[in-house]
Amino acid sequence: MSEKALQGKRIVLCVTGSIAAYKAVSLLRTLVEEGAEVSVAMTSSATQFVAPLTFEVLSGRPVLQRLFADSPPLPHLRATEEADLILVAPATANCLAKCALGLADDLVSTLFVATRCPIVMAPAMDGDMWDQPALAAHTQTLRERGIMVLEPEEGPLASGLVGKGRLPAEHVIMEAVRSRLALRRDWSGQRVLVSAGPTREPIDAVRFITNASSGKMGYAIADAAAQRGADVWLVSGPTALPPPANVTRVSVLTADEMAHALDARFAWATVLVMTAAVGDFRPRYPSSAKVKKHEWTGEPLALERTPDILQSLSGKRTHQVLVGFAAESEDLLANGRKKLQQKNLDVLVINKITGAQSAFGNESNEAILFPRHGTPMPLERMPKRLLADRILDTIKEHCLSSPPSRVQQPPEGIRRIR
Ligand SMILES: Cc1cc2nc3c(=O)[nH]c(=O)nc-3n(C[C@H](O)[C@H](O)[C@H](O)COP(=O)(O)O)c2cc1C
Repeated sequence: MSEKALQGKRIVLCVTGSIAAYKAVSLLRTLVEEGAEVSVAMTSSATQFVAPLTFEVLSGRPVLQRLFADSPPLPHLRATEEADLILVAPATANCLAKCALGLADDLVSTLFVATRCPIVMAPAMDGDMWDQPALAAHTQTLRERGIMVLEPEEGPLASGLVGKGRLPAEHVIMEAVRSRLALRRDWSGQRVLVSAGPTREPIDAVRFITNASSGKMGYAIADAAAQRGADVWLVSGPTALPPPANVTRVSVLTADEMAHALDARFAWATVLVMTAAVGDFRPRYPSSAKVKKHEWTGEPLALERTPDILQSLSGKRTHQVLVGFAAESEDLLANGRKKLQQKNLDVLVINKITGAQSAFGNESNEAILFPRHGTPMPLERMPKRLLADRILDTIKEHCLSSPPSRVQQPPEGIRRIR
């Protein structure tokens, strides 16, 4: 990142009433050091934690606190009309809820309602507060509307307990700011096919074999590509995730269904990103009825291989860029290089699957990006949504030099349901 990566960018930093408000002081300094012009807005609760004067001196601007201030009149409109980004750090549970509901009863909440610019929220709160179902619903609503809500970090909390609720690390917030501000429509014209989630292979009418994939990485890539202007189809195995905005989702269960759904859209795509954890084996003789306990003879379950989707699509490719994922526990680079060649991929994303910080199910991921014609790039651990942008940057840099071919219609007989 260049020294003045945020030169000329206008950011409104909203500070709300969390014990982590003091961390916004360091964040403000970093934003200013990177060249951003920052106006700070504080809720009344936030001023209980840090004096506005601190932010005023460090930003070189008066701190916005009151909706009905003497000057400027209409502060909520003046503050946001020229802003490139609103960053809320720390964001309280109260602030997330108000923003999701569209309430506007103080200056900060009115900014959210008044603005059209992107919003990044970095929550900080006690672990029990973060786990509240109401808050989870608000967070989901905000994300569905395109607001980037970062995941709080796990660790020691102000209450003395250990849990998930700490303000994300400053480098994570800064990465989110850069990524959001860089929001270009630089994938516009691309037709991106993403596979995500696990597959489910039936043993009988109620039992099945599956794996621990949550689908979060694929959904993050679909979201990032759509936000950057691509036309996106997401072929998803069973997950609990809502479809990202402006992405067309096709839901499948088995490896066969996934193969069929991808095959039907492959000719349309300019880029295929295979994040799905497709099961390698399936029961050879699944029963269409439920097998009763006493009917089980103790025989081991006979398994057979599922189709190798990536290999098969790789054999059919005409113009598509192929991106694969490898979940590796050892010899990451050597195994990755082998997969890159065997499957004739353009970019491979290697995930570590061992340890407490395994890629499966986690919000963040530590990956190595391995372009076929480039050197492997190990990345620091970061939220999957930010990693998604880095993956798209790499694909773009190494594989998308020429504009995409003329826009094609999705194959006949395939209807779009958003
Ligand atoms: C000492 C103290 C620490 C607090 N820390 C947090 C916090 O980290 N996160 C949070 O969501 N609320 C926290 N609260 C509660 C909020 O300050 C409270 O919900 C307030 O109404 C938030 O107002 P605001 O969203 O307008 O800033 C804390 C309250 C106190 C007294």
